Amino acid sequence: MSTLFHIVCTSVISASAHPNHVVDSARIARNRHESADITGVMAFDGWRFLLYLEGEEDRVSEMVAALQRDPCHQAFTILHKASFDGPRRFRDWSSGYPIDAGDDTLRRVSQLTGEEALRALEAALPQLYLG
Ligand SMILES: Cc1cc2nc3c(=O)[nH]c(=O)nc-3n(C[C@H](O)[C@H](O)[C@H](O)COP(=O)(O)O)c2cc1C
Repeated sequence: MSTLFHIVCTSVISASAHPNHVVDSARIARNRHESADITGVMAFDGWRFLLYLEGEEDRVSEMVAALQRDPCHQAFTILHKASFDGPRRFRDWSSGYPIDAGDDTLRRVSQLTGEEALRALEAALPQLYLG
């Protein structure tokens, strides 16, 4: 199995960001990830983002650098990054939203670091989708 790289990061939306940017980003991400063979998930609760990316290390790092330049979000924090042996956790790229925007799932995960953040994200996945 080939070595892959994954990263868990979090940020909050900037006051100046247009809400449409989240939708636009999700659309751009889908195309970019497909061509860079990056898979993962993005969740947004109206304020906080939680992002998991996996793929070839250089490509994931490039993507993270682009994210860090994006003024539409702030307090960008890497909770976990590591190489790992496959398989990938995701077969494609998806974005999910908690059903209840008042839910504190993303806040809870964003307070963890390392493998703990990754495990909490995995455990929260079923709650992140509308269906
Ligand atoms: C919270 C958040 C998550 C994002 N996630 C991704 C992503 O996973 N992949 C992606 O291509 N762009 C993502 N974007 C958009 C990028 O930050 C950036 O706007 C886009 O890649 C264009 O970057 P560039 O023109 O500077 O290269 C995200 C933006 C935000 C605010």
